[in-house]
Amino acid sequence: MRVRLGVNVDHVATLRQARRTPYPDPAEAALAAERAGADQITVHLREDRRHIQDRDLEVLRKVVTTVLNLEMAATQEMVRVALEHRPDTVTLVPERRQELTTEGGLDVASQKDQLKSLIKLLRDAEIRVSLFIDPDLDQVRASHKLAVEAVELNTGRYAETRSEGARKEELDRIENAAKMAKKLGIEVAAGHGLHYHNVEALLAVTEITELNIGHSIVARAVLDGFDRAVRDMRALMAPSR
Ligand code: PXP
Repeated sequence: MRVRLGVNVDHVATLRQARRTPYPDPAEAALAAERAGADQITVHLREDRRHIQDRDLEVLRKVVTTVLNLEMAATQEMVRVALEHRPDTVTLVPERRQELTTEGGLDVASQKDQLKSLIKLLRDAEIRVSLFIDPDLDQVRASHKLAVEAVELNTGRYAETRSEGARKEELDRIENAAKMAKKLGIEVAAGHGLHYHNVEALLAVTEITELNIGHSIVARAVLDGFDRAVRDMRALMAPSR
């Protein structure tokens, strides 16, 4: 089965926010990603708004014609934003202000009651809910108790492993969690830290039906476009003096 690709365009906005210019626009990147074969556009509206802004979400909702997946913290404030903009899917993630990027998955069991009420609000608005969790059987069981449609398994640790042994161990953990989720009727996505050299091994885990990938794609896009960008500027300057 073809694995769906969710392209995370957050870091296009990171570049824009670094200079507070109107460009580059993550919505333009989203359209380019869809033209190139992305099945889904993923964005993480962080509480500190360090990359995408509320307005980006508004524009993305209007222009994305595949699936819009909003990653967000499990808070009342973010649920209010989701209900206003109506993404197709919400992926609930843990969020710490000091972190460089999402670190670790949600501890579902310890926040069961809070998650339950937030999930109900999203469900009532016909938004599909996914939980970003570590590949841990207890987290899968706890997610099942909340009757979510999907989980996204955190591949961050897999991506960080250095030795073959540790990598194999982490892949096994991902596979076991994916198998259990599928058995319980939960759709399985995965993501975090995936790049051009570590994605292939994950494809062997056939229970995974979706991958969300951002940083490595944006990083490659910057360098692949560099030659053209310099040539365009050079050509513009050519007729002068
Ligand atoms: N999935 C989740 C839940 C994330 O939080 C992120 C990072 O925002 C990604 C996928 C994409 O990770 P990366 O940018 O490392 O590819």
